[in-house]
Amino acid sequence: VSTELDGRMRFCTRCPELVATRTQVVVGDRPAGARLLVIGEAPGAQEDVVGRPFVGRSGQLLDALLEEVGHPRHQVAVINTVKCRPPANRVPTSQETATCRDWTVALIDSVDPRVTVTLGLSATRWMVKTPTLSAVRGKALEVDGRTVLPTYHPAAALRGGPNGEAMVRLREDLALAVSLL
Ligand code: URA
Ligand code: SF4
Repeated sequence: VSTELDGRMRFCTRCPELVATRTQVVVGDRPAGARLLVIGEAPGAQEDVVGRPFVGRSGQLLDALLEEVGHPRHQVAVINTVKCRPPANRVPTSQETATCRDWTVALIDSVDPRVTVTLGLSATRWMVKTPTLSAVRGKALEVDGRTVLPTYHPAAALRGGPNGEAMVRLREDLALAVSLL
C-alpha cells in the first residue's frame, strides 16, 4: 500500500552520509492484510536501484524459502532497519538505525503483524536486547506486545551453503513463524 507515510519517508534527509549516495529511499513492502513482517538490515545495491527491499541474491533466497514454507513473499511485509543504502554496503551505524527508528516504528504499527521475523544480528538487536544471535535465534519472544522470532540473515545462509547451519535454521525458523500466524 502506498500511503502518506511512504510519501513523507521518500523525502527524508536525516542521515547525511546515506542521503549523499542513495538513489532512493527503500520504504519497504506492505501488502494489504500481511500477517508476517520480515525485518532486514539495510538496502543493498540492487534494492537501491529497484526501490524495493530484498530483490538481490538474499531476496531471491528469502522468496524461495517463503514459497517452500507455504507463505509466498507477496503476502509478506518486508522492511529494513534503515531505508537508505549505506555507502559500499557498510553496516548502518547505531546512530543511523536510531535516526530511522521513528519510520520503522510507524511502519511496524501500520502493518500490525501477528509475527515479526528479524533477519541477522543487526535487525534482531533493533528489537531484542541480546549479546548474540544464537542466544535468541529460533525463539518466539514477546517484545512490547509483539511476537518476534529472530533468525539468520539470508546472506549468512548463502555463505554457509545449502546444507550449512544457517540455511537449515533459517528454513526451520521461517516455517515456525508461518505456523504461528
Ligand atoms: N539485505 C538486507 O538486509 N536488506 C535488503 O533489503 C537486502 C539485503
Ligand atoms: Fe531517513 Fe531512514 Fe534514510 Fe536515514 S535511513 S535518511 S532516517 S529514511
